[in-house]
Amino acid sequence: MIAYEDNSVESRRQAIQAEIDMRKTAAERNRLGQFATPNALAIDIARYVESIIGQTQGSIRFADPSIGSGSFFSAALTVFGSKRINTAVGVELDPSFADAARNLWADAGLEVVRGDFTRIVANGSCPPPPNVILANPPYVRHHHMGREDKERLQRLAYKMTGVDVNGLAGLYVYFLLLATAWLEDDGIAAWLIPSEFMDVNYGVALKGFLTDRVTLIRAHRFDPDDVQFGDALVSSVVLVFRKTPPAVAHAVEFTFGGTLAEPHASDLIPRERLRESRKWTVYPAHAKNDRHTLSDGKGPILGDLFRVQRGIATGCNKFFVLDRADAKSRGLPGKYLRPILPSPRYLKTTIIDADSDGYPLIDRQLCVIDCNLPEPMVEAKHPALWEYLQTAKSLGIMDGYLIGKRSPWYKQEQREPASFLCTYLGRGSDDKQPFRFIWNRSEAIGTNLYLMLYTQNSLATMLRRHPGRAEAVHALLGQVTGHELRGEGRVYGGGLNKIEPSELARISAASFVKLWPELGYDVQPQGKLFG
Ligand SMILES: C[S@@+](CC[C@H](N)C(=O)[O-])C[C@H]1O[C@@H](n2cnc3c(N)ncnc32)[C@H](O)[C@@H]1O
Repeated sequence: MIAYEDNSVESRRQAIQAEIDMRKTAAERNRLGQFATPNALAIDIARYVESIIGQTQGSIRFADPSIGSGSFFSAALTVFGSKRINTAVGVELDPSFADAARNLWADAGLEVVRGDFTRIVANGSCPPPPNVILANPPYVRHHHMGREDKERLQRLAYKMTGVDVNGLAGLYVYFLLLATAWLEDDGIAAWLIPSEFMDVNYGVALKGFLTDRVTLIRAHRFDPDDVQFGDALVSSVVLVFRKTPPAVAHAVEFTFGGTLAEPHASDLIPRERLRESRKWTVYPAHAKNDRHTLSDGKGPILGDLFRVQRGIATGCNKFFVLDRADAKSRGLPGKYLRPILPSPRYLKTTIIDADSDGYPLIDRQLCVIDCNLPEPMVEAKHPALWEYLQTAKSLGIMDGYLIGKRSPWYKQEQREPASFLCTYLGRGSDDKQPFRFIWNRSEAIGTNLYLMLYTQNSLATMLRRHPGRAEAVHALLGQVTGHELRGEGRVYGGGLNKIEPSELARISAASFVKLWPELGYDVQPQGKLFG
């Protein structure tokens, strides 16, 4: 590779990157996961990789499977120097970035291959294996990936790596697996990816790959309050691993906060422990990392006492959810309207009483259209509803995924009202609960902005006998600490927390059993066996 020590190209790259970003809408950038790595961060990552390989790996054969404008190649030039980089290749799907990278870096020896990396890696035309990969892959979420494409990627990942990727995984999981298959044995890779996989079920296969198939050296998680990419709304982790099977006694350096070079917290976690850990964001245990799980999985959990289910996804709240008064003035038949709670943003109280019709006693009463009659019958019997349903076409909502799947398309998922609900998105640090628990004494159901908690087993029996204890149940839910909720849930960039039904179900219910020991009956393994 020719000698190349020209920093002005990096300044030009930044200007071109900003210009291309500006030309695109947020939706376009999300579709291809186009959030560039700030150069300082790319340099930090390259420096760390350099510290690992030292002088052992003489010449570098660099690759970035989604090169963008080449932030990582630029960093590699800065850190390794052009003399040490023997070959360099970048793959890029978007022609504007591929052209930019080529124009900027061809003189420095970067070969840019234009196309879809996941296809290029699968066919014989793939460039020779690199020994260093630095990557920030597209963070495209699974629901933005077409079904056929997802199935193709699942088959390919299985064929090339033996890993069975869960359909909920984002594109970055496939990138990491496929690029590692491409990487030379003993090569080093550094990945800047969302940290979500560390906690969720769909991340299990990737975690297994990282503990058993490669030697994970470092996992540095950024503090979600310190967003790396202002607009990408995810918290990120840098993974550095060597493509070689791990030693039995291997331990991984987990760090958190600050920078790669100066993290706020650090701990060595034995591989064996990682293999048994459901959540990886609890490492390193440190006051600054508040993601510790308190439930050890042995004592009673909320899932023993409550069935937790997400509220309904209507497919288009703007269309299906109306003000009760508006529905009435349109003459919509009450039989096909159900009370529904407003978005948590507009719900000011955590105790909801009901009026004589079961509607919540709140400022804005809402209802959701839920009808199972076939269209000809609606047309014949309920002209007002029919007229309203006709307006859906002009709103362009009929092509939506959920609506397209339902029959009839205006029939909602069926849910009974739940006595307790929990909001599932929220902020909060230290002891402040990021989510609110609501005691619902009305007939209203919730949309999918709520988790619905249906009492079950001994708790349901107890409340039937002692309905007056519902208030204390609500109070106990209110005492679940912010630490516990954040520990079980997951966190996004900017400190936004989210909790899924199965995660809420795993929260300790010890305080319930302490107050009402008879509830403990259900949670004894033997009780379950005979239950
Ligand atoms: C998160 S950006 C990172 C760009 C660059 N590596 C960096 O660190 O600044 C991901 C890049 O992947 C590109 N991309 C998206 N899908 C791709 C695919 N299937 N094959 C190759 N590149 C892809 C996007 O156009 C975008 O430039």
